[in-house]
Amino acid sequence: SWPAAVRIVEVGPRDGLQNEPFPLPVAARVELIRRLVGAGLKSVEAGAFVSPKRVPQMDGSAAVLARVLADPPPPTGATAGAVAGVVAGAVDYPVLVPNLQGFEAALAAGAQTVAVFAAASETFSRRNINCSIAESLVRFRAVAGAARAAGVKLRGYVSCVAGCPYEGAVAPRAVAGVAAALRALGCDEISLGDTIGTGNPDSIRRMLEAVLREVPAERLAGHYHDTYGMAVANVYASLELGLTVFDAAVGGLGGCPYAPGAAGNVATEELVWLFGGLGIATGVDLEALVDTAVWISTRLGRAPASRVARAVLAR
Ligand code: HMG
Ligand code: MG
Repeated sequence: SWPAAVRIVEVGPRDGLQNEPFPLPVAARVELIRRLVGAGLKSVEAGAFVSPKRVPQMDGSAAVLARVLADPPPPTGATAGAVAGVVAGAVDYPVLVPNLQGFEAALAAGAQTVAVFAAASETFSRRNINCSIAESLVRFRAVAGAARAAGVKLRGYVSCVAGCPYEGAVAPRAVAGVAAALRALGCDEISLGDTIGTGNPDSIRRMLEAVLREVPAERLAGHYHDTYGMAVANVYASLELGLTVFDAAVGGLGGCPYAPGAAGNVATEELVWLFGGLGIATGVDLEALVDTAVWISTRLGRAPASRVARAVLAR
C-alpha cells in the first residue's frame, strides 16, 4: 500500500537555474522561491555555494538565502501537510556545499541544511568537483563535522546512479558504496541522482535494491532527470520500493553544467499530478505550482516544458 504522504524537494532554484545559459538575478531567484513556498513546497533548494567561476548561475546564493530567511514567505493553505508529518512543519532551504569554504559561507548566510554532492563515477567526480570520489568523501567528512558542530542538517547526493556522461553504465554496487559512505559520515538523507536520465524503472530498481542493503528507504530520496522521459516511471518504481522523498524542479527546469546533454529534473507538477492520482498527499497546490511554472518559464523566455503544466493551462 502507498504511504499517506510524500515529501517533494523542490530543486528548481538550484538544479534548474544552474543550467540556464544566463544567470538569473538574485531578486528573481528570491521571487521564484517565494512562489514555490506559496504553492505549498516545504523543502526548496535555494542555491549552491560553489565556485562562481565554475557555475556563475549560482553566484549570489548567499544573498538569495539571506533574503528568503530574513523575510520568510507566509505559510500557505498547503497545510494538507497537517495530515501527515512528512509534509508538515517549517520550510527548509537546503543549499549545496562542495567543501568547508562553501560550508562556512552557507553558515554565514544562515543555512540550516546543507548538501554535499558525491558521484558514483570517478570521471564525473573529477569533472564536477575536481577531485576523486575518495578525496570528495574526505572533504565531506570535514563538512559533516562542521555541520554537526553548528547544528546544521546534512543531505548528501550521489550523482550518476544509473549512468555517467563519460563512463557509460554505472554499477549498482558503486552507487551503494558511495551512499553507504555518505550515510556513515552523517548524512540524514541521501539523494540518488540519475544525472543524465538514462535510467529506466528496471535499472533504477536494481540500483535501489543494492543501495537498500546499505541505507534504509526512509533515508533515501530519488532525484531523476527526465532526459529520455523516464523520470516519472522511475519515481513510481522507487515508490514501490518504499522511497517517500523525491526531488523535482518546477516547470522541468534543470540539468548539470558538467553533464552535457542532460535535461531537466522531473517537473514538480508532474509529481504532484502523479501523487494526487495515487491518493498520496504532497501538500502542494497544483494550480499555484503551474502558475509558478509559467512565471519562471516566461522569465526564461519559453513555455513550461511539462505536459502537466500544458494540460492544466488548457483546462
Ligand atoms: P577547485 O578548482 O578544485 O578548487 O574547485 P580549489 O579549492 O583549488 O579553489 C579554486 C578556486 O575556487 C579558488 O578561488 C577558491 O577560492 C574557489 P581563486 O583563488 O581561483 O579565486 N573556491 C570556491 N569559491 C566559492 N565557493 C566554494 C569554493 N571552493 C573553492 N565553495 C570546487 C572545487 C568544488 C569548488 C569547484 O570544482 C566547483 O565549484 N564545482 C562546481 C560543481 C557544481 O556546482 N556542479 C553542479 C552541481 S552538482 C549537480 O548538479 C548534480 C546534482 O543535481 C545531482 C544529480 O543530478 O546527479 C546535485
Ligand atoms: Mg541534478
